[in-house]
Parts: sequence; structure tokens; C-alpha cells
Amino acid sequence: MSKAVNARIDKLLSSMGYGSRREIGGLAQAGRIILDGEKVNDMTRRITVTAELPRRMTVGGEQLDPVSGLVILLNTPAGVTCSHCDAGPLVYDLLPTRWRRRDPAISTVGRLDKETSGLMLLTDDGKFLHRVTSPKRKVSKTYRVTLSRPLNGDEVELFASGTLMLKGETKPLDPAVLKVVSPTEAYLTITEGRYHQVRRMFAACGNHVEALHRERLGQLHLPEDLTVGAWRLLAGVEQQLIFR
Ligand code: URA
Repeated sequence: MSKAVNARIDKLLSSMGYGSRREIGGLAQAGRIILDGEKVNDMTRRITVTAELPRRMTVGGEQLDPVSGLVILLNTPAGVTCSHCDAGPLVYDLLPTRWRRRDPAISTVGRLDKETSGLMLLTDDGKFLHRVTSPKRKVSKTYRVTLSRPLNGDEVELFASGTLMLKGETKPLDPAVLKVVSPTEAYLTITEGRYHQVRRMFAACGNHVEALHRERLGQLHLPEDLTVGAWRLLAGVEQQLIFR
């Protein structure tokens, strides 16, 4: 949370998805809400909401969830959708169910195609989301690409040229950096976020992307110890790596 605010405890917990104010009143009556070691009886009491609050408060015996202003780093599996309302499995299904009821809502920072895996950020902080996704910032995104056919040999130069035009578009792509690993594997770093951009770049070269995995946003790497489908909160210093 960027600025400490005062909030009524019942309103705060309700906005964090713990239930209606009536339900939260019930939890308090049952002695299930503890602040600084004491049962909270008066849910209309106001408290200062800071990032440290989860260390001081438990609800139903568990540490309070992070307060608003959170940034989540997720290792997205292939096959989940970055949407709030699609039919199939959603990235939001990988987070605690209660978090779907939070206000402000948690959203993905940009999107990955359903079949793309790897580094995804989610946040309830609109300013942070805008900073990362604003085209003016040109935050770089690095993908590991697996191709169905060997590279032609001219892709490094073509992608770096700033002249490649995608089908149906009128503005060429900004220069992108391709690092070849093998005839069918490479790392591609782009600074734009056009629709299906990586897949369309290789399609423009007569190739087909078999697998796509986002490894990096700016200088923020997907941690090796974050297993597929797992998430963790991203600390402020780590967030700065995105803009390097
Ligand atoms: N480019 C794509 O084609 N798909 C993604 O998910 C991300 C970048």
C-alpha cells in the first residue's frame, strides 16, 4: 500500500474478500479476529492500514492476507486464460479463492496467450499496472521460443531491423533481439505487446511457434524455484527490476 489509510475493520476485511460485513461481525463475535494479540469486538473501529498489518492480525487463526497494493509473481502453466470470465481454467483459479472478491480487484499485468507459459504479474495497483504496460515505458519481455522448423538464418537481422511488418498492420515492429540457442530454439526480447506478437513474428518468417515461455520482464527473471502454477508476492525492490 503506497499511502497509509484509516479504515473500519469490517469494511477493510470485506474489501479483502473475507465475507459480508455481517459475516465478519459473526467472526468477530466468535473471537476469530485478533489484532495485536487481542480479540477484536468492535468491528466499526478504525485502524491504520499498512503493509505490516498482516503481521499484527489473524482471521480465523490465519495471518491476514496482504493489504491492497500487492504485486503477485506467478509461474503460469500453459492452458490457463488471463481473463476473469472465460470458460476454461483461469489464472485467478491459481490464487486463493477469497482473492476473487477483493476490491480493488486483482488483474493480470498484460496478458499471455492461453498456450504461453511463464512469468505473469498480477496486481490490484492500477498505477503499477499502467507503469508496466504503458507503451511509452517500453518494458522488455523475453520469451523462450521453440519452433517447429529450423530457423532460416536471417531472423536475427530481420527482427533487429525495425522494418518487419506483421500481417494486417500498417506500422513496422520496433527492433527486437533474437538470441539463437539451436536451429529450433531461441530467446526473443521485444518491447511492444502486440496481439500474438511473437507467434506472428515467426509466422512472418514461414515458421510456427510450438512452445512459448516468458522468462523475463525487464531484468526480473522467473525464479527457478517457483514451480509451475505457483505464485509469490513480489517485494518492492524486485518490482524495480522490471524497469531496468
Ligand atoms: N507473443 C505471443 O505471441 N503470445 C504471447 O502470449 C506473448 C507474446
